[in-house]
Amino acid sequence: MKILTVYATKYGSTETVAQWINDRFLIGGHDARCMNVAENPECGGFDMVLLGSGIYSHKFLSEMEQYIASNIDALMLSKTALFGVAMRTETFFRRGNAYGGTVMLERYGAMLGQRCIVGRILGGEMVFERLTDTDKHRLEKFYHSIALSEAEQATRRHPRTFLNKRQCWDFAEEIIDCAGK
Ligand SMILES: Cc1cc2nc3c(=O)[nH]c(=O)nc-3n(C[C@H](O)[C@H](O)[C@H](O)COP(=O)(O)O)c2cc1C
Repeated sequence: MKILTVYATKYGSTETVAQWINDRFLIGGHDARCMNVAENPECGGFDMVLLGSGIYSHKFLSEMEQYIASNIDALMLSKTALFGVAMRTETFFRRGNAYGGTVMLERYGAMLGQRCIVGRILGGEMVFERLTDTDKHRLEKFYHSIALSEAEQATRRHPRTFLNKRQCWDFAEEIIDCAGK
């Protein structure tokens, strides 16, 4: 298969994930390439286009949302798959609503339709010290809003990684498997 992976990242973890997935496609003998959304890659003529982004406030980065919207006609001609990279990968339920996990992919799946065959949220990474002041401030407001204790906040400020190559390779295998059905 001819496969294009397009990723959006702010701090680099989604690039790492995209490269691991792309490596697994290459190992499987596929004609695969991986590009940053900032390069605005041409997405026509592929059998599969995989679209992934770091997750910010339960959504893809706006660059990826805009890329999907502006290339929707070309994307709907091939099979597509989605991934988000986040610190919390599972769905949780609060006050009548489900948040997080693959629920976050539904809005993009609704745009891409039935040929969008599979999606996952994969583990990311966060090094608080490396964030911009604006992002540090956003997170501090968020921790306050969910009433995290000082101790829990300190844990979150400690460098944390959930990057997992095996999880990425499993996802690459799932994509190939689903695309063949
Ligand atoms: C301002 C901000 C908001 C975030 N929002 C979420 C979120 O809603 N859910 C989540 O699980 N992780 C969230 N994260 C963590 C990122 O998704 C995680 O660090 C991811 O690996 C970042 O990807 P990138 O390095 O490719 O930019 C947030 C991080 C920041 C700095």
